[in-house]
Amino acid sequence: MSEAPTRVLFVCLGNICRSPAAEGVFLHQLAEAGLESSFDVDSAGTGSWHVGQAADPRMRAAAERRGVQLPSRARQLSLADLQEFDHILTMDAENLAAVQALSRRTRPRAAITPLLQYCRHFRHDEVPDPYYGGEAGFDHVLDLLEDACEGLLAQLMAERRQP
Ligand code: 4NP
Repeated sequence: MSEAPTRVLFVCLGNICRSPAAEGVFLHQLAEAGLESSFDVDSAGTGSWHVGQAADPRMRAAAERRGVQLPSRARQLSLADLQEFDHILTMDAENLAAVQALSRRTRPRAAITPLLQYCRHFRHDEVPDPYYGGEAGFDHVLDLLEDACEGLLAQLMAERRQP
């Protein structure tokens, strides 16, 4: 079993809705499984508009109804993130293209993957941006994230167990 924590970074556009929710959901699942010490988890946005802000109050409220806290403050993705994290998980095709474009400026350590590739129940390519929609959009995002994060955790634990 690998000793060093696996470093996981969730990325969206603003870092106030989808990626802080993914971070919170993944942290919640780690806590339930007693695996917090095996992972370092963070989130970032490709844009800088909301740097320093807490997660959107509508996203926080929807998460809290499921017992999930969203502790993050928005920050912008940096070139160093591509070298420091093991896995970068993107929410939609625009985020994926932005991270891939940044990655061409360095030799990335991180594997860059659309998060929903890890879903085991839903069949969607992208986490829709709930920012301009209604309440139900936030719950749908959390449904997708819970499914994907369960699959992600199972995969990353399997990788950690490899000699
Ligand atoms: P996120 O949602 O990428 O899930 O954090 C957004 C929040 C705000 C904006 C865009 C996306 N915005 O343009 O202000």
